[in-house]
Amino acid sequence: MDLKDKVVVITGAGSGIGAATAKLFAAHKARVTVSDIDVDKANETVKDIEDAGGKATAAQTDVTQFKEVAALIAQTVDTFGQLDVMVNNAGIGGKHQLKTAVHDHDDWHQVIAVNQTGVFYCMQLALRQMTQQGHGAIVNVASLAGLKASGNNLSYSASKFAVVGMTKSAALEYGRKNIRINAVCPGFTQSALLNQLLASSDTMEKNLLRMIPMGRFGEAHEIAEAICWLASDHSRFITGQTLTLDGGTSL
Ligand SMILES: NC(=O)c1ccc[n+]([C@@H]2O[C@H](COP(=O)([O-])OP(=O)(O)OC[C@H]3O[C@@H](n4cnc5c(N)ncnc54)[C@H](O)[C@@H]3O)[C@@H](O)[C@H]2O)c1
Repeated sequence: MDLKDKVVVITGAGSGIGAATAKLFAAHKARVTVSDIDVDKANETVKDIEDAGGKATAAQTDVTQFKEVAALIAQTVDTFGQLDVMVNNAGIGGKHQLKTAVHDHDDWHQVIAVNQTGVFYCMQLALRQMTQQGHGAIVNVASLAGLKASGNNLSYSASKFAVVGMTKSAALEYGRKNIRINAVCPGFTQSALLNQLLASSDTMEKNLLRMIPMGRFGEAHEIAEAICWLASDHSRFITGQTLTLDGGTSL
């Protein structure tokens, strides 16, 4: 994959899918801004990248804060001169096992703020820079929960369907500007976020595994491969699409 010297920003890159994606971009010789609300975790990812001989810099960014996202893009452009790839990965799972009639309002607002408004802010600011420079690729991390119904977690479902909708609508607007916008839709993938769901009941792990034809959870680096491919020129005629990585769960 030709990602050499591409300038990449990844949100939520202190752990899980974001950290694996940052490491894979860096392994392909991209220059990566590793952004996370938790700067200690971002620094750990940067250290792993540098130990492996790659180039990265850390940034503390809460994607729900427009000014912080603006500072993230500005810092990246100041450091590296441009922004080739924006990976909007930061996300939270919300409270599980709450039916809609009793869904907690604070949880609703928090999940929508991070998973939906955060992606909007990041796309908006990345697009301002990419339009100016005349090229770019955005990859949003949606979810299988953005394509299919999933009970007992309406805020997460709403936010991820929104990410898919924003991906398609923005792709329509920016095709002629040489900017592609796509999304990955992971199924159940090993990470802190999945662990939270598994901890919600004793039978959760068994029940989830039963739903996956391949009989196992995904691994963060498997999702990272798809994100890097969608950001690379190998997928240059693809825009506004979702790529599902779920071991067959959606079947
Ligand atoms: N793990 C799965 O099964 C799965 C499945 C489908 C989609 N996803 C999506 O993948 C993405 C990454 O999740 P993960 O599984 O790697 O989880 P994770 O919890 O390991 O990583 C999420 C990262 O986002 C950061 N973050 C949280 N709130 C933030 C904020 N306001 N601003 C900036 N960073 C913030 C966290 O600090 C953390 O480092 C999320 O968007 C998630 O919804 C995960």
